[in-house]
Amino acid sequence: MGWLPLSTPRTNLRKICNSHIFTTQKLDANQHLRRKRIQQLLAYAQENCRAGKAIDIGQAAFNTTLNFLWNTIFSVDLADHSSDTAREFRDMISGITEEAGKPNLSDNFPVLKKLDPQGIRRRMTKHFGKMLEVFDCLIDQRMKLRQEHGSTEYKDILDTLLNIMDDKSVEIDRNYINHLFIDLFAAGADTTSSTLEWAMTELLCNPEALSKTRMELEQTIGKGNPIDESDIIRLPYLQAVVKETFRLHPAAPLLLPRKASTNTQVAGYTIPKDAQVLVNVWAIGRDEGIWENPCSFMPERFLGSDIDVKGRNFELIPFGAGRRICPGLPLAIRMLYLMLGSLINSFDWKFEDGITQHNMDMEEKFGLTLNKAQPLHAIPIAI
Ligand code: HEM
Repeated sequence: MGWLPLSTPRTNLRKICNSHIFTTQKLDANQHLRRKRIQQLLAYAQENCRAGKAIDIGQAAFNTTLNFLWNTIFSVDLADHSSDTAREFRDMISGITEEAGKPNLSDNFPVLKKLDPQGIRRRMTKHFGKMLEVFDCLIDQRMKLRQEHGSTEYKDILDTLLNIMDDKSVEIDRNYINHLFIDLFAAGADTTSSTLEWAMTELLCNPEALSKTRMELEQTIGKGNPIDESDIIRLPYLQAVVKETFRLHPAAPLLLPRKASTNTQVAGYTIPKDAQVLVNVWAIGRDEGIWENPCSFMPERFLGSDIDVKGRNFELIPFGAGRRICPGLPLAIRMLYLMLGSLINSFDWKFEDGITQHNMDMEEKFGLTLNKAQPLHAIPIAI
């Protein structure tokens, strides 16, 4: 979806996302699935807590997000936290986002396109091919079931899409469905888990912010109690922590590339028709002209402020803005608060041996998604 020009297929896919997948009603109806996945995440942390072992936070968050998406789409479990399937899937998705974020010589010298000098297209085709194979198989199985039984008892996204295809309320075919799944996994899993990893890293490096987050959770939810999505509104400090994480570590630092449809003037510059336009959200988040002490992690700056991440305040647009704003925003936000709030409210956390807040490696690995170059390993401690 992200690479399609404005066209009927694009509009149809957006319509499906906005009206059938990410509505408040749908998300409220399947929040029990997320609750179950959070319990699994906490059980995994508990196991490691007993063993005194560190957790790869990004990987654990990725598995949780992946499992949640997989369940909502296909009504089956994909992976537990130590499974090879989850790891393989993460490699595929990271492969896609890394390759998509690399500057491609062929964009500047179209004559090279066929030669694919950096091998980007070859590797992308391999990653996409593998994912499509898995989805194709799941769609086949479901279509067979529907043929045998007339309908199925699943009320998941796959059923919703097959119904739309059958009743032709929006024009889509099987190929669209398959590629929409790639979009949802490629756009949703890495971004969400990477943000969670950065939020945990920043909190562990800023003990005062961590203790304020914990105090708010304790007073509002009760120490160790599970968090519900309906609690989020009562947790302003946690919300500020997530916004501050988005400001410093936007998962999609350059949004998705745009193309000027006509010659346009912006701030005195001429943007010629067909020029590719990249919006540097990462730089906006660290602009001294906008933010005081831009490099410090200070969630307090958002307390009592109206700034949100829904594309209305251009100083903070981690999900983009306008017609192309991330359609998964409502789900991403719920997942993030739930994972972060639960991990903080259920455990104390400490760094692995030898790592402190002063020597923590904050380097970023640049791709379409801005991941932490060195994974955060943290040890859960019983509270
Ligand atoms: C922290 C989590 C996430 C962040 C920061 C994020 C950010 C973004 C951004 C910046 C864009 C491009 C918007 C633009 O260029 O204006 C985008 C597009 C998109 N996102 Fe997300 N996203 C997240 C989670 C999700 C989730 C959970 C899903 C779905 C399961 C999702 C699905 C998509 C899709 C399908 C697009 C392409 C939309 C289009 O081109 O019309 N995202 N996202």
